[in-house]
Amino acid sequence: MDQLDRTRLREALQAAESAIGLSDPNPRVGCVIGSADGAVFGIGATQAAGGPHAEVMALREARAQGRALAGATAWVTLEPCSHHGRTPPCCDALVESGIARVVIGIRDPNPRVNGRGAARLAAAGIEVAWAPDDIAAACRDINIGFFSRHERGRPWVRMKAAISADGRVARADGSSQWITGAAARQDGHRWRLRAGALLTGVGTVLADDPLLNVRLPQARRQPLRVVVDSAWRTPATARLFAAAGPVLVIGTQPVDGPSAIRLRHAGAELLRLPADAAGRVDLGPLMAALAEREVNELHLEAGPALNGAMLDGDWVDEWLLYLAPRLVGAGLPPASLNSGEALAEPPRWQWHAVEPIDGDLRLLARRRDAHLGGVGPAYSSVQTLSEAPVESTEATRKSVEESIACSGPRGLGTDSA
Ligand SMILES: NC(=O)c1ccc[n+]([C@@H]2O[C@H](COP(=O)([O-])OP(=O)(O)OC[C@H]3O[C@@H](n4cnc5c(N)ncnc54)[C@H](OP(=O)(O)O)[C@@H]3O)[C@@H](O)[C@H]2O)c1
Repeated sequence: MDQLDRTRLREALQAAESAIGLSDPNPRVGCVIGSADGAVFGIGATQAAGGPHAEVMALREARAQGRALAGATAWVTLEPCSHHGRTPPCCDALVESGIARVVIGIRDPNPRVNGRGAARLAAAGIEVAWAPDDIAAACRDINIGFFSRHERGRPWVRMKAAISADGRVARADGSSQWITGAAARQDGHRWRLRAGALLTGVGTVLADDPLLNVRLPQARRQPLRVVVDSAWRTPATARLFAAAGPVLVIGTQPVDGPSAIRLRHAGAELLRLPADAAGRVDLGPLMAALAEREVNELHLEAGPALNGAMLDGDWVDEWLLYLAPRLVGAGLPPASLNSGEALAEPPRWQWHAVEPIDGDLRLLARRRDAHLGGVGPAYSSVQTLSEAPVESTEATRKSVEESIACSGPRGLGTDSA
């Protein structure tokens, strides 16, 4: 029984991955409904915001197959919602279905849910169980930005850079394109896809004129593209405006001058925020503004000035580095820092995952103090499942695979999926 729970939760996690690049700003959630003797009735994942959540999708599939739901179990990666958001509460749908037991991956950090979903199920006589810590951590990881936004009031910030083996992101003349190979660049697009917003500085816009969009066939939405540009120096002819998707330019100057008006005519939304001591966009209000726009994961793809400021301000949670086996010589570093770490101290960062990507390497690092632990259960009546791993049944694996239309990069640092 416990082994079945673990298997079903891992399958629900796989289903949740299919919501990457789709469900934002809602969390990526997967749900499996089945019986205690191992039959699977339905599998679902959260759809685009305003669309059905994972539980409703799984219930629909089970009903479409004519399954009797009385006495069944639902395995869901995130606590079912108990409030009316863009859709009615999933708890109500589960209660009405006659399901007898719900196994939850992790508590929802959204203050409108945060334990209320489990309490609502328990009050309706449904047995509620919680995942063990390792699965809870994987359930948290797939929604790391959603947790960050609700727990810290700001997005999870991932700083991406393509770097030569001698630590350069651009040549001395500012040219940086094609430091890494095509496969690494393609992989970078998959990481862009999972972000709610892509952030760069006007320095990169002026040097590279990037599209800064997701160029993947499976992209069903484009993240918000954000440029910090204190004095509206972004050219109205920038290629940013030629690609589909919204562009937000954030500056510190009044928005009624000629350059600001030109940018608005080009299609940009302009936002004026307070300036920092150097007259640049103050990064605290920037983070708050992005959280207010429900950005969960923020993909920072900028030059040394903005990367340095983000690192100095302690806003970066994770590095996504592509390391190329080439030597550029004189050039720019990934970040211009005001002060580095003391070498006598242990590093503040740790490598998290290393992956060869064709001829390059993908390196992921996280701050040592990044809060990654699973959030424990909140109710004294909950049970914790055993740790023993089991194989999934072939039929369920196939069903999960069929339900996954598009998978972004896997949840980080877990072997959950
Ligand atoms: N290899 C890679 O992965 C990669 C990726 C991106 C860029 N690059 C390279 O990086 C180079 C550009 O570097 P860069 O440092 O000039 O550009 P950047 O970091 O993208 O943009 C810097 C500009 O952003 C504006 N800004 C506004 N608020 C800021 C704040 N709080 N902190 C810092 N900047 C703020 C500033 O201009 P205002 O003062 O006018 O607001 C600043 O000059 C190019 O050569 C590009 O090719 C390489």
